[in-house]
Amino acid sequence: MTQREEVKPKSGSVGWSCPSNIALIKYWGKKPIQIPMNPSLSMTLTEARTITKIHYKYHPLDKGGKLQFRFEGKEAPAFEERIRKYINSITSLIPSLSHTSLEIESKNTFPHSSGIASSASAMGALALCLVEIEEEVLGAMDRQRFWQKVSLIARLGSGSASRSIYPQFALWGESKGWDQSSDLFAIPVGKFHKSFLNLRDSILIVESGQKKVSSSAGHALMDTNLFAESRFKQARHNLDQLHMALKKGNWDRFISLMEEEALSLHAMMMTGRPGYLLMQANTLSILHLIRDFRAKTGLRLGFTLDAGANVHLLYADADATPVETFIQSELVHYCENGMVIKDKMGSGPQKTVI
Ligand code: DP6
Repeated sequence: MTQREEVKPKSGSVGWSCPSNIALIKYWGKKPIQIPMNPSLSMTLTEARTITKIHYKYHPLDKGGKLQFRFEGKEAPAFEERIRKYINSITSLIPSLSHTSLEIESKNTFPHSSGIASSASAMGALALCLVEIEEEVLGAMDRQRFWQKVSLIARLGSGSASRSIYPQFALWGESKGWDQSSDLFAIPVGKFHKSFLNLRDSILIVESGQKKVSSSAGHALMDTNLFAESRFKQARHNLDQLHMALKKGNWDRFISLMEEEALSLHAMMMTGRPGYLLMQANTLSILHLIRDFRAKTGLRLGFTLDAGANVHLLYADADATPVETFIQSELVHYCENGMVIKDKMGSGPQKTVI
């Protein structure tokens, strides 16, 4: 019998709040099972979070644990079904789950219709809770193993979630020159220049609501995209360059790489079959205004994009006052109902009081 073999019935509650993240080097294209075609690097956010609590009952002799999922206080059958499939898919990694009933409650800190993708924070929070339940049932594991396992379990739910569990910057994907980097889980980035500390991210909501193309469908388009191989090569090159810029405090390089990555992601969407035009006219207006304002003022600001029309405007903490004045005076008119969500670099997930 191994020391961690499940023996005693146990019940309890766990809870985690996990932030979302914004990729600077984009993950776009994957192979089974959730293996990225290129490494990605992201900044963890502070405000946009998912808070998940689970009440569990483990009994080694029970088979097929029950599952109940409530989102923002209401039953959510579609999400529940997705979570059921996900949990079934990870029981080989957390065998005790096959004998555990779970009552899950989850909510987001950001508005549902804001167009912010919630899979990173949601799957991050869920993975944190599930691995913590495993620890409560079987005994503690060492901390490095805990975080790597959480990241791996989160990745199987949504690739970008693997990065959400670390503070500041995270890297996911095997990369030369990065000790311990892996396609299976993300790792923290470690040291970077102090001028990037508390990097701000104001999310300019050009279009709220459902995504036009799901992440899975978007990734799948890369299987047949004629430019895919060049894109994967570009991402690897940009990762090395960005790492250097982050260490040296080279803002010009940081901004040009971040914007190149965003535009390349959209170029991939446009050149897919079918091709998607995810930017709106207002997105383009905002991008032009950001570049003009930067050229005029020399302030440290630049944009990145998700697979949608909204703009993430990243800027130095020290330049926050003039950049936020610029957002209010020139950019807010291009946002749906003037919606701007202010966020910034974050310190990672937190355990919540049950
Ligand atoms: C454009 O992580 O949402 O945000 O693994 O299918 O859940 P799945 O995809 P997802 O893809 C994120 C794509 C992106 C870029 C990124 O976050 O790296």
